[in-house]
Amino acid sequence: MVRSLLAAFAVLLISVPCFAAEAVTYEKDIKGIVAKRCFACHGPQAPSMDEFKKDEEGYKKKMKGPKYDSYKELLVVVKGSDAGALMRRLDDGKNTKDGKPGNMYAYLGGTDAERAANLETFKKWVGSWTLKRKKELSAEELDAIKALEK
Ligand code: HEC
Repeated sequence: MVRSLLAAFAVLLISVPCFAAEAVTYEKDIKGIVAKRCFACHGPQAPSMDEFKKDEEGYKKKMKGPKYDSYKELLVVVKGSDAGALMRRLDDGKNTKDGKPGNMYAYLGGTDAERAANLETFKKWVGSWTLKRKKELSAEELDAIKALEK
């Protein structure tokens, strides 16, 4: 009896972590993808969001976008003042009005498989994938966007 109880307990201990799907976080999953796939143009050398907004055309010519080398900076385009921008740019075309992918989608990977896998990771991280703009998002919709740091 005691022995079978112990065995049942052991099975439970081993299986519980397998069932609890581990949350996707910035530190664990997103930071590495951004560094690898986006830093050529959005890395530490890129302008801050404010600098970028002052001279968008100039930076575009130099192929520089706003810098996304910290959680705080990236969050602005996920659920901050420019909410949804990340989703609009990375969408593969399944949620866009014209069916075309966002213009940063191509940078997600070198192959279709890599792009799809990295998009899936971004989607899990965001939690509630919506292309809506800040002013179109309700408080509930904003709250549903998770984008955990750790
Ligand atoms: C080859 C350079 C390059 C790479 C690589 C690149 N981007 Fe960009 N990105 C740009 C430029 C230039 C802009 C600004 C022009 C525009 O809006 O299209 C931009 C704009 C953006 C914007 C909109 C910024 C705003 O506020 O208007 C987002 C979001 C974005 N990129 C995300 C990403 C992500 C995420 C990756 C990696 C998967 C990535 N980009 C890879 C060059 C790049």
